Amino acid sequence: MEFNILVFCYLIGSVTFILGLKMLSNPATARKGNLVAAAGMAIAILGTIFLYEEGGVKLGNYGWIFSALVIGSVIGTLMAKRVQMTAMPEMVSLFNGMGGACAALISVIEFRHLMHGYDAATYASNGSSYFSSLDGTTMLIIFLGLIIGSVSFSGSMVAWGKLNGKLKDFAFPGQHIINLVILVLNLAIATFVIVARPEETPLFFYAIIVLSLLYGLFFVLPIGGADMPVVISLLNSFTGVAAACGGFLYDNKVMLTGGILVGAAGTLLTMLMCKAMNRSLSNVLIGSFGGGNAAAGAGPQGGTYKEISLSDAAVVMGYANKVMIVPGYGLAVAQAQHICHELEKALEAKGVEVKYAIHPVAGRMPGHMNVLLAEADVSYEKLLEMEVANEEFKTSDVVLILGANDVVNPAAKSDPSSPIYGMPILEVEQAKHVIVNKRSMKPGYAGIENQLFFQPKTSMLFGDAKKALQDLLAEIRSI
Ligand code: TAP
Repeated sequence: MEFNILVFCYLIGSVTFILGLKMLSNPATARKGNLVAAAGMAIAILGTIFLYEEGGVKLGNYGWIFSALVIGSVIGTLMAKRVQMTAMPEMVSLFNGMGGACAALISVIEFRHLMHGYDAATYASNGSSYFSSLDGTTMLIIFLGLIIGSVSFSGSMVAWGKLNGKLKDFAFPGQHIINLVILVLNLAIATFVIVARPEETPLFFYAIIVLSLLYGLFFVLPIGGADMPVVISLLNSFTGVAAACGGFLYDNKVMLTGGILVGAAGTLLTMLMCKAMNRSLSNVLIGSFGGGNAAAGAGPQGGTYKEISLSDAAVVMGYANKVMIVPGYGLAVAQAQHICHELEKALEAKGVEVKYAIHPVAGRMPGHMNVLLAEADVSYEKLLEMEVANEEFKTSDVVLILGANDVVNPAAKSDPSSPIYGMPILEVEQAKHVIVNKRSMKPGYAGIENQLFFQPKTSMLFGDAKKALQDLLAEIRSI
């Protein structure tokens, strides 16, 4: 068998994608995993540029290709370096939209290839239908890539606009019905064209593009801003599937493997996020839970809570045997991860054992707390997953909650009427003392009150997390 270097490059690309994904599942190897997969992708791309040939002709156009590569790499690197951690979902959304657009463009280009040489007048004059000779399977794949890629593009652009505050949630009565009508109409047109191959095929093709873009727009516009990470993950899986369609069209194994992996990973992540929030995907897509309005409308409904002074908090923590820190979205907003790590070291210097309890959906994106704490060089060994942390709370003297709310709300276990009922939570009440740092009594993402704040063993330490931790650190160092 002839040894084909290009096929070997694709094999390396496919294997490194799988290895990279595996390594991404552990914080200790994630960075390396990213590099491994990127190196595989680089080999596959360079292999295609220099080794691919059809009928003895190579790709050529090197000036265009490398100019685009350089421009894209510079923009991507600058954006990735500058992005704030809390703006990460926004950037992922933008990049994902570009992927969807690329997949849709592949379909447009391949449709034009399929149409190449079509001359309506000639075919009409000799009575034959040019379109009936088109390959149905190729058309099916072209349409699939076009529809999924276009939906992913326009949906991701809306998500990007909403996350960076340029677009507001927008819903009108009957929106879900209209969405359904657009979707069904689009699929019906695509099916009709593939089966009947009418003379108006090119016209229908462009109608499909417009309807798909509209669907993506209307599908994402009404979704509550904070539900965006789930939607982005779903759109990410769409882009993967659309790219896999490109792999089918070009008979390109690495594109197919990459697309399928992205599609599968995005789907799994979507399901995991929904599970960790105890919500169905349909509830995320058509429910209003998590919307900005819900959060703004709900306020404290009574009950008494007690406050703790900085010096008292410092004493309780400084003389404890074991302190568990629960990071949440507020810690990320305050960018207090570095000072939190300083506090951890100061406590350890006093002989206190310090660990972190990580809830799977704390923050606003998958792995948010892990990434945030890794940024501050907190050791991975200190980060406990929810099940392990729930065991360790029993033997903890103090739990310090930093800008977390829903992930420690006992209503998830005790109140069947609560929107978060059934969501697994960090069972912090099992520790001797609970200190909660946040700025007010306002609710978190789910927009609901938290009874934990009113329990006898809970004390509130109000203030911005960064400032509160700086002051607490000074107090601890002074005792
Ligand atoms: P949240 O429930 O959103 O609570 C965060 C708390 O942080 C707020 O109550 C807020 O109270 C406080 N806060 C905000 N800024 C602060 C600051 N500068 N300093 C101190 N505190 C501050 O956060 P969580 O407990 O991490 O839960 C995450 C929620 O997001 C869950 O409901 C989850 O389902 C949802 N969600 C997560 C994801 C992923 S993948 N992680 C995706 C979508 C949705 P104040 O305003 O009073 O300070």
